[in-house]
Amino acid sequence: MTTMESLIGLVNRIQMACTVLGDYGGADNSTFSSLWEALPSVAVVGGQSSGKSSVLESIVGRDFLPRGSGIVTRRPLVLQLHKLESGAQEYAEFLHLPRRKFTDFALVRQEIQDETDRVTGKTKQISPIPIHLSIYSPYVVNLTLIDLPGLTKVAVEGQPESIVQEIESMVRSYVEKPNCIILAISPANQDIATSDAIKLAREVDPTGERTFGVLTKLDLMDKGTNALDVLEGRSYRLQHPWVGIVNRSQADINRNVDMIVARRKEREYFATSSDYRHLSNKMGSEYLAKLLSQHLESVIRARIPSITSLINKTIEELESEMDHLGRPIALDAGAQLYTILELCRAFERIFKEHLDGGRPGGDR
Ligand code: GDP
Ligand code: NA
Ligand code: MG
Repeated sequence: MTTMESLIGLVNRIQMACTVLGDYGGADNSTFSSLWEALPSVAVVGGQSSGKSSVLESIVGRDFLPRGSGIVTRRPLVLQLHKLESGAQEYAEFLHLPRRKFTDFALVRQEIQDETDRVTGKTKQISPIPIHLSIYSPYVVNLTLIDLPGLTKVAVEGQPESIVQEIESMVRSYVEKPNCIILAISPANQDIATSDAIKLAREVDPTGERTFGVLTKLDLMDKGTNALDVLEGRSYRLQHPWVGIVNRSQADINRNVDMIVARRKEREYFATSSDYRHLSNKMGSEYLAKLLSQHLESVIRARIPSITSLINKTIEELESEMDHLGRPIALDAGAQLYTILELCRAFERIFKEHLDGGRPGGDR
């Protein structure tokens, strides 16, 4: 792994440990929440069924999220990806089920559904209480992704009238954070001028520096029309380039078309389309994943000085907390504090070694 990968990986694990402690620990939370908020994450925003969950799955390269028509995602899902060395066994773990390792991703999807229902019942209601899931794999980039319920304009049968506003406030609470990178998802078969994603992204990020415009469902546009005005930035200009996507259709999902086949079909779609062929190396899920991890790297690189000083402060606070608790540690919270302390020390060490290597600024 590169130094940058190791640093991002450590930051990811510190975030994870802070979450565990925040939920179950009795320690002072403010340090941990400021540490968490200093670190970037990526959230998907868009109307219902615009393809948010599908885009996240493609970025991860794994089938594990509930998808479909109507309101499927009803609680925020905070998804942490942790890169493992190549050859290592891939697995997933939920915060609410510590010590249970999932290697079957169909069971991960089932558990997300069950855990959603546990809080909301088998209804169309939503809850702001996030589900935390970590995926450990050699095939992912170190990244925190957040799947959110879709923005809607009207409540449906079984939902209170207030739901439209509730969803918007929930989504806003994630995307208004200055360290949140926004994946604004709009379907190509609807007018971009009516896009809920773009509307909200513009409100919370007027300069567009942390917004990535994603156009899904290119395959569902009316024959004889194309999305070049959007993709080439003429309809709505963003600082980052727009990325067009072709996810699996509902029929593909019903037929269990797998990720590898879906990605190949998406590549073929762009390579053979007379409208988009000239853009084909800047389109698709794999390109989006690469673009995001590059952006994330540059954001983290720029923040390393502030993250390092925050981590130093955390180390000091943790050391005094540890002295207070005394060692050896029996309590779960104590063990968690110790883990964070070790991770912070590792971050500091790798960072210093890297600087001593004569390449300040975090270059590879
Ligand atoms: P979400 O509600 O925004 O999370 O959207 P989902 O990812 O659950 O997708 C909603 C529906 O749209 C599912 O039936 C998907 O199969 C379908 N869908 C999403 N993206 C595309 C796409 O690019 N092309 C086609 N044909 N269908 C898509
Ligand atoms: Na949906
Ligand atoms: Mg969804």
